[in-house]
Amino acid sequence: MKEEVKINITEKESQRQLRFIEHLRDYYTEKSEELQRPLTCHIATFGCQMNARDSEKILGTLEQIGFKEVDTEEADFVIYNTCTVRENANLKVYGRLGHLSQLKKKNPHMLIALCGCMMQEDAVVDKIKKSYRFVDIIFGTHNIFKLAELIQARLDSKDMIIDIWKDATEIVEDLPSERKYKFKAGVNIMFGCNNFCTYCIVPYVRGRERSRNPEDIIKEIKDLVADGVVEIMLLGQNVNSYGKNLEEPMTFAGLLREIEKIDGLERVRFMTSHPKDLSDDLIDAMKDSKKICTHLHLPVQSGSSRILKIMNRHYTKEQYLNLVDRIKNAIPNISLTTDIIVGFPGETEEDFLETLDVIRKVRYESAFTFVYSKRTGTPAANMEEQVDDEVVKDRFNRLLKEVKIISSELTGRETGTVQKVLVEGINEQDSELVTGRLSNNLLVHFKGSTELIGRIVNVKLVECKGFYYIGEMVEAQ
Ligand code: SAH
Ligand code: SF4
Ligand code: F3S
Repeated sequence: MKEEVKINITEKESQRQLRFIEHLRDYYTEKSEELQRPLTCHIATFGCQMNARDSEKILGTLEQIGFKEVDTEEADFVIYNTCTVRENANLKVYGRLGHLSQLKKKNPHMLIALCGCMMQEDAVVDKIKKSYRFVDIIFGTHNIFKLAELIQARLDSKDMIIDIWKDATEIVEDLPSERKYKFKAGVNIMFGCNNFCTYCIVPYVRGRERSRNPEDIIKEIKDLVADGVVEIMLLGQNVNSYGKNLEEPMTFAGLLREIEKIDGLERVRFMTSHPKDLSDDLIDAMKDSKKICTHLHLPVQSGSSRILKIMNRHYTKEQYLNLVDRIKNAIPNISLTTDIIVGFPGETEEDFLETLDVIRKVRYESAFTFVYSKRTGTPAANMEEQVDDEVVKDRFNRLLKEVKIISSELTGRETGTVQKVLVEGINEQDSELVTGRLSNNLLVHFKGSTELIGRIVNVKLVECKGFYYIGEMVEAQ
């Protein structure tokens, strides 16, 4: 019963937003005729895949209103979809806003909007209200679907419009969305995070964990496949806990098995897996699947059980290594990648050596390495013993060196074999070549032309050049 009400609300809401879109379309068509030029928009996306997917929804709405996307910030509607996971993500946004104010002086029709994770922080919104008065619209991560309504409100009021929700109660389905690639797409399976790792701000800015109904996910994927998509990336902060809060609980492995059945879908990826929730059933589902790619991103964050405990990660070094063993035994050609933080408060040289030990034992294909960044409002920000900058820098460099050595030893291991490659585009440096992606996520460059884009072809991996291969197409699939 509760579920029914929820669906009604969301359908009603999306209909309501479509009416705002139509109204704005009329307004902007007139404006465009008046100015005798198309009206343009530009979206700058910071942060992770979640934001990238949100930006597709933002672009979908803007295009329906009548804006044409351009590559420059000299546009009629400019929006920054922001990230706040680390301090430098924040600083980038402030840096670029100064430049935007100059552009706005030249174009009186220009609207500037800010959205995304940074906007969920009160201190950020206060700062913008005070020092960046030229911003027109501010909204957060929970009400992206309201964009058209907020633009309308701005046109009606002439004042800065601020609409931030502390959390989301509903998932609004079926709003327009404009995909970046014709042949691959990100699909949200859940929103938010309940894990509260002590360094991380994401649970505060993305709210509590909410899973989408499996039927909605499957329908979205079927529609994407009908529209030419062959590869999907399932998105969530912790996909392994998918389905726990559904009316009829379902596991992530169960969802993957349903997705596997979709005809025409060739490849399935997912991000991000939390080690604490990765089940043997999921390993089995991956092993049995013909579509799930041979790549698993499994953030370890630290190799020290002591630090992992303070980070609130809910696994020890030994449990993580044991999990990796089980995965490798079941799927020997799996390519593992990870995220690592150095300089978490209280991290000692011994703790750091444990991290290096994990890297040597697991042998990651690649790793995203981060210097710990203090995020106001998180428990770690109040921990004493923040590690000295110089020490962190030294550890970071040592870590990077180790990661590079291992990844260069690993990447070449498939040289000489023939692999399936999804062609993504023309090579940026050499237009005679195309660039494609292997199941394990590595890139391959080989001779080919535009008609191959979006197709899966067999390619012989002739030479490994460190992080990518040079190949030769053997035959089209
Ligand atoms: N939900 C994902 C990660 C999302 S954030 C997961 O749990 O794996 C992406 C990465 O940013 C994290 O894995 C972590 O390595 C890093 N990160 C998050 N907060 C950070 C902070 N305060 N300082 C440095 N790195 C951080
Ligand atoms: Fe952040 Fe941890 Fe949630 Fe990932 S699982 S988003 S690191 S709190
Ligand atoms: Fe950044 Fe928000 Fe993603 S803080 S990493 S954009 S969830």
